[in-house]
Amino acid sequence: VVERTLVMVKPDGVRRGLVGEIISRFEKKGFRIVGLKMLRMSRELAEKFYSVHRGKPFFNSLIDFITSGPVVAMVIEGDSAISVARLMIGSTDGREALPGTIRGDYALSKSENVVHASDSPESAAYEIGLLFSEDELA
Ligand code: CMP
Repeated sequence: VVERTLVMVKPDGVRRGLVGEIISRFEKKGFRIVGLKMLRMSRELAEKFYSVHRGKPFFNSLIDFITSGPVVAMVIEGDSAISVARLMIGSTDGREALPGTIRGDYALSKSENVVHASDSPESAAYEIGLLFSEDELA
């Protein structure tokens, strides 16, 4: 089934110059990029984006981190995009993510883990709607 999902290079990934590498992996895999932008998240937007994590012990540091610099958000489209993108980014904790995944290759932390991808059809719809308007999607 063709799906769309949101992938976001986090501030650490942008700072480290990994934007091109990350976009390239999704393109080479066969996904189509249907939306792409760089933005600096406001606290308000970040709190909405991560609203499912509100109340968790790491929530405030997560918001501090994700608003610490620009992110690059993209919407990718293709067969089973949501689950395949999750496989490609690897486990949340970079120390546990398998080599060959983006976090497995580039992250050594659970909080600064380079990249985000929506974890379900509901999150994908919510996150895409938060970051992109209809006319920004090809
Ligand atoms: P992400 O896939 O963007 O979704 C929520 C983020 O919260 C996650 O990646 C991590 O960056 C962060 N996160 C999740 N669990 C923890 C934790 N236990 N400690 C710190 N950060 C966490």
